[in-house]
Amino acid sequence: MAHQSNLIAEDIHSYLKVQEEKDMLRFITCGSVDDGKSTLIGRLLWDSKLIFEDQLAALEVDSKKVGTQGEDIDYALLLDGLQAEREQGITIDVAYRFFSTDKRKFIVADTPGHEQYTRNMVTGASTAGVAVILIDARKGVLTQTKRHSYLASLVGIKNVAVAVNKMDLVDYSRERFDEICREYDLISSDLGFEEIVYIPLSALKGDNVFDPSTKTPWYKGETLLHYLENVQVANNAADKDFRMRVQWVNRPDLNFRGFCGTIASGVVRPGDEVIVPSSGQTSRVAKIVTMDGDLDEAVAGQAITLCLEDEIDISRGDMLTTPQSRPSHADQFEAKLVWMHEDPLLPGRSYLLKAGSATAPAQITELKRKVNVNTLKLEPGKTLAMNEVGICNISITKAISFDSYDTNRHTGNFILIDRFTNATVGAGMIDFPLRRATNIHWQSIAIDKQSRSTLKNQKPCVLWFTGLSGSGKSTIANLVEKKLHSMGKHTYLLDGDNIRHGLNRDLGFTDADRVENIRRIAETAKLFVDAGIIVLTAFISPFKSERNLARELLDEGEFVEIFVNTPLDICEQRDPKGLYKKARSGELKNFTGIDSAYEAPENPEIVVDGGETQVVDIVERIITELFG
Ligand code: ADX
Repeated sequence: MAHQSNLIAEDIHSYLKVQEEKDMLRFITCGSVDDGKSTLIGRLLWDSKLIFEDQLAALEVDSKKVGTQGEDIDYALLLDGLQAEREQGITIDVAYRFFSTDKRKFIVADTPGHEQYTRNMVTGASTAGVAVILIDARKGVLTQTKRHSYLASLVGIKNVAVAVNKMDLVDYSRERFDEICREYDLISSDLGFEEIVYIPLSALKGDNVFDPSTKTPWYKGETLLHYLENVQVANNAADKDFRMRVQWVNRPDLNFRGFCGTIASGVVRPGDEVIVPSSGQTSRVAKIVTMDGDLDEAVAGQAITLCLEDEIDISRGDMLTTPQSRPSHADQFEAKLVWMHEDPLLPGRSYLLKAGSATAPAQITELKRKVNVNTLKLEPGKTLAMNEVGICNISITKAISFDSYDTNRHTGNFILIDRFTNATVGAGMIDFPLRRATNIHWQSIAIDKQSRSTLKNQKPCVLWFTGLSGSGKSTIANLVEKKLHSMGKHTYLLDGDNIRHGLNRDLGFTDADRVENIRRIAETAKLFVDAGIIVLTAFISPFKSERNLARELLDEGEFVEIFVNTPLDICEQRDPKGLYKKARSGELKNFTGIDSAYEAPENPEIVVDGGETQVVDIVERIITELFG
């Protein structure tokens, strides 16, 4: 390594200490390869000399072989580490690069600038304090400049450096530079940036990157590196109010009880008063315990164990905060959501929300608007596809503590996880809590499920039939209900086609509509069970997630999943309503089994073969197994 190599050789401990004590700045560079982004980062790494010597040798060879700069060194090659990237000439993922100068350490997130990489950019930018937005001096402000700026503002970046690059190709023209500054001022006026600095530069030639350029005598501002070394980031975690989400409660014996977690923001000291917003209980910090002994002070980013003076109830996911400025504590909020997964967002589906150590099942109750990231216009929409951004209402099954992202990005963010695959599907920024449910309380009712079912002399439950269209669900459910009725049971059959004439007549057959269809049926079935009734439902209910939601709404043993397993070809031969024929001819879209998915149950309580077995035998079996 070339940088400070003498110190490394002479006194490695001093070198490491100097490094450790240096302040760290995380920033993101936004732009495309064409704007010279890779060249700029390559130049920063090169000029700070933090490149391994063997990498330098390889770079010189590579530059001659595949570079675009003739005999000169092609700095962009430093970054295009992956073979695939080199061949395609684009960068395909978030790469974090580290470099340092005497003043600061830097981590730069390098993400691709194309629209289809929005999620990468959001990921890279979410921890950055500064965005360096590259503009090609010849092209000026482009659609992508707007998009990059919006995304930087979305993730809460307040400090922006606009690097007007390739000044060498416009003859270092001051007029051109001023024109671009004016254009950018216009597009960024609503984005909430606190400071915008404009720098004319040439990453390729090195003008105004490390050293002031002689080619731009009219420019009196700082160089890019000087800016990066000195900028005071506006939304620093350490400057915010104290917040820590408890990761686990450490209670090895009766004498010790510590709350472990990483400080999300602010500072904490022994003696400080703290509050748990979920209960409103307060106490004082007795000690701050770490692996390296007790501390007099701990700041954002540090992992600590807090011991309090009083015994108060705190569990995993709870937040410890300063009582002077409490966070919100709610189970519904509005948020901006960036969709990260190939499978689109399905409002109504139960996802797992994770905000630090706080987790809870969550539903998007309303997608209010989609944000067109190119025009920044708000548009209506029913779902979000990968890389799309939306504004939505989210409801979670239990309240959590949070701040609005704008006031504190460390406690106002969350991710959504698919509950079956564990994939991260969305990343969100909370706008504000919704007070809808705060003034609504559970009314206690004298007659309960137990008394209603005792009167009917039965144990209520849901027989949830699932299977393809034409599998025989309705026929079987109908006969099972008839049989139960003759046995003196109180029943109710909810049937797909019938419900779609009334309660669910507003729904079609898109994935999102099917999710909502089943969500409503699950809630309805729950009400009937509460009324003491044996409910039968006959819906395709094609998705595992929503069948699981129905199961979770009910008590143990109340949900009986019956998979009517009839092969597609038999359903298609039967085709009682002629719908398969229409679907095959393309006349009917989104038909289950043809061009819309059916996810078969993995562990249903009962599987019946709806193809071969006689319907009477199936009915007999269900009755004997469940009521026999
Ligand atoms: S679900 O997928 O949302 O559970 P549901 O059971 O309510 O579907 O409705 C299915 C019934 O609607 C089918 O039995 C069929 O008669 C009719 N139908 C009309 N269009 C479609 C379609 N595209 N896919 C499936 N069923 C359809």
